[in-house]
Amino acid sequence: MLFNLISVVILVATFDGLVYASKTLESLEAKANSIAVPAPPPLEFLFAANVTLGQFDSFEGPLGTRLNVPIVSANFSDANGDIVARLIPGNTVEHGYVTASGILFTDIVWSLRWEVDGKLAYLRALGIGKLPVQNLNYVQLETDSEVYGDLNRRFIVANITFAPPHISFFAAPSAF
Ligand SMILES: *[C@@H]1O[C@H](CO)[C@@H](O)[C@H](O)[C@H]1NC(C)=O
Ligand SMILES: *[C@@H]1O[C@H](CO)[C@@H](O)[C@H](O)[C@H]1NC(C)=O
Ligand SMILES: *[C@@H]1O[C@H](CO)[C@@H](O)[C@H](O)[C@H]1NC(C)=O
Repeated sequence: MLFNLISVVILVATFDGLVYASKTLESLEAKANSIAVPAPPPLEFLFAANVTLGQFDSFEGPLGTRLNVPIVSANFSDANGDIVARLIPGNTVEHGYVTASGILFTDIVWSLRWEVDGKLAYLRALGIGKLPVQNLNYVQLETDSEVYGDLNRRFIVANITFAPPHISFFAAPSAF
């Protein structure tokens, strides 16, 4: 009886040992396969604006509902609340489209005038999102302003939200 008990204990101990050994092997394998996860690029807030939209128009195109929504007015403020740029009105339209499944692909070209030196900036925003949740955009910015010239070399994103219409811009540091 005692002998049997001892063999059961030994059996259980051996089984546990095997399970432990195989678990250890698995975790060693997982360790061998894991990578050093890189840090995402840090983003710095640039400026934000409330946006006044014009008459909503659209048509059913081959990719979905193609939008024609004029952007009438937008004043871009920095973190201090100071206006740094204003939209040049009359030539900015949201030309994106909404797919049948409800994904919004934005396509907006903006012209801004910087308050500090009166120079211009061209911004093109291409993004993905959903009405009326949010829309994240890659932004290409070009300017001849000496004050804002470094933005020509920076990776910029914009977050658009819709209730009320609002856009905020963020830039990653430039490595060159
Ligand atoms: C947008 O409007 C809201 C509400 O009026 C205001 O609190 C906020 O400061 C405005 N944001 C900008 C960037 O102008
Ligand atoms: C931007 O500023 C102008 C001039 O101060 C003002 O008339 C306009 O309503 C502002 N636009 C927005 C969207 O706040
Ligand atoms: C976009 O802005 C909205 C409103 O501020 C915020 O709730 C949302 O988290 C932002 N999206 C991202 C990805 O930061």
